[in-house]
Parts: sequence; C-alpha cells; structure tokens
Amino acid sequence: MTSLRTGPPTRARARDTVQSPALRRIVQVVADLAGKPLAELRILDLACFEGQYAIEFALHGAQVVGIEGREANIAKARDRATQLELDRVEFVQEDVRNLRRGRYGGFDAVLCLGILYHLDFPDAIRFLERVSGVCDRLAVLDTHINLGLSRDFRDGRHVYRGRHYIEHSVRAEASEREQSRWASLDNARSVWLTRASLMNALIDVGFTSAYECDVPPEPAKPFDRRTFAAVKASRAALRSTPGSDLDEWERVPEHRSRARLLRNHGPGTNQLKQLLLDVERLWPRRGSAGYGPRSWGHRR
Ligand SMILES: C[S@@+](CC[C@H](N)C(=O)[O-])C[C@H]1O[C@@H](n2cnc3c(N)ncnc32)[C@H](O)[C@@H]1O
Repeated sequence: MTSLRTGPPTRARARDTVQSPALRRIVQVVADLAGKPLAELRILDLACFEGQYAIEFALHGAQVVGIEGREANIAKARDRATQLELDRVEFVQEDVRNLRRGRYGGFDAVLCLGILYHLDFPDAIRFLERVSGVCDRLAVLDTHINLGLSRDFRDGRHVYRGRHYIEHSVRAEASEREQSRWASLDNARSVWLTRASLMNALIDVGFTSAYECDVPPEPAKPFDRRTFAAVKASRAALRSTPGSDLDEWERVPEHRSRARLLRNHGPGTNQLKQLLLDVERLWPRRGSAGYGPRSWGHRR
C-alpha cells in the first residue's frame, strides 16, 4: 500500500494540503464523540475537496462517502484513493445543497469542514437541515463565524445574524467560478453567521447539544475560524420538572450582559467584594439580599 506521505503533492500551494493539526483535531473529535470505533463508522465528508479527510478515515477502516461539487477536485480524490487501494471510500460529484437521506442513507458522523460559510442565506439553513437529516449521531463543523458588524437574516419565524461575504465577482463566468477550486460553486456571495446564530440554527435543525472544540489545538487557525461538534439524539426529560422536555428552548443570545461580567471580573471587583463582605460582617443588615455572604458566595 502506498503511504500518504510518499504520494505526490497535489499542488504546490501549502493551503491545498490539510495541515496535520486540522486533521488531528477532526479525527480526534470523531474518535471521541461518535460512540463507536472508527472502523465501525459510516462517515460523510461534505465538500471534501481532494478527499484528505475522507481518505484519512478510510485508512482507519471507516466506510466513507465524500461529496464534492468540482470535477477537478473529485478526480484528484479518486486518484488518491485508487493509489492507496482503498475500497471503503466513494467519491460523488454533487452539490451539497442537494444532500438527501433517500440517496445516501444515514451516517454516524457528518463532516462539514470549510463549506457552511460558502453558502448563501437561506441555503446555509437548508443545508444544515439536510445535514441533520442524514446525521444519526455526530456532525462536525469547521467554519468561519462573523465577529464583526452583523445584520438580520430572516427565515420563517427565525431570525439569524451574520454578514455577507463575496465569493466571486458577479460578472465571473461559470468557467472562472469552476477554477476557484476552494470557493463556492456558483453563488457570488455567501453568509457568515455569528457564533450564537450558528448555535441557534443547530438547535432549529434538530441537534440536541453542540460544543466548540479548542483541543486538540490548532495554533495557526484564524480567530474567526472555529470547530464545532453537534450531537443529534433525543431531548432529555427532566425528572424534577415533568414535561420540560416538550418546552421550546430559549435562544442563544447574540450579546451577553456586561453587568454580569462586572460582578466578578471587573477591575477592582474582588477588592470591592472583600470590602462589602467585611462591612456586612461588622454591621449585618436585616433581610440583606444584595451583598450578604450567601449572595456573594453564589454566581448568579
Ligand atoms: C474551503 S474548501 C474545503 C475543503 C475541505 N472540506 C477542507 O476542509 O479542507 C471548500 C470546498 O467546497 C467545495 N464546494 C463549495 N460549494 C460547494 C457545493 N455547493 N457543493 C459541493 N461542493 C462545494 C469546493 O469545491 C471546495 O472543494
């Protein structure tokens, strides 16, 4: 079997090769959270480019489907799989916006790496719905989030926040768009959701919990590029609050109150807290609720 390290480089530019910290993170997340050994998993790699992630998982014995919209990319992925004599990985040329369970079945892990932020609105939400539709357990998203100014994007009864990002010149011909092998397929602009809106979208499409991943580390990753793991299971009922599993969940807030930050982390807060606690001890107030030991002892 040919080793991945001895195979020919796909292209000279460094960003065409998945850097090992990124690969390490994704493999570790799936190994830790998918709930089965890698060799027993069925994995879907969406917008798989030249198949680096798909092939890595196939080398672990997983059964993998890679979907990619660009013919040139998928041709390289297939060549590499052939070189490595991998028979458990299949590459399909298709637009990920057409993903459907009826065609591909269900997957233990769905990889959405570097694709969500290439889709426009509301396609990004429809795409997440489709991801949820084929996901039987875990979805891993590696995506840009918007950290700057944002605006509302309405989708039915839900409002998300984000901003547009230019993918291609609106005047670019189809052939020019095809040549931008890392960009969106055809849409001239895409939308980058805020972190909170991405989390809310994951709730809306049926995931039951979601986590941001910083370990294994990827020190070179831009600050606005993040890895998230979302799990699809059943909403857990609370035994102490019957019926709560049927309640509609709150939204993840776009902004959190700075007043709460001041409570414990503002400059000088600890000194002020110490002073107030000492005053309270010396001259206890009847019915004190604000600064008494009990209230300071709890973060509210
Ligand atoms: C930034 S690259 C990410 C590649 C790979 N998943 C990774 O993380 O290294 C984006 C990939 O998405 C593909 N792509 C963009 N829009 C697509 C779509 N609508 N359907 C299928 N593939 C698409 C591009 O051709 C490109 O290979």
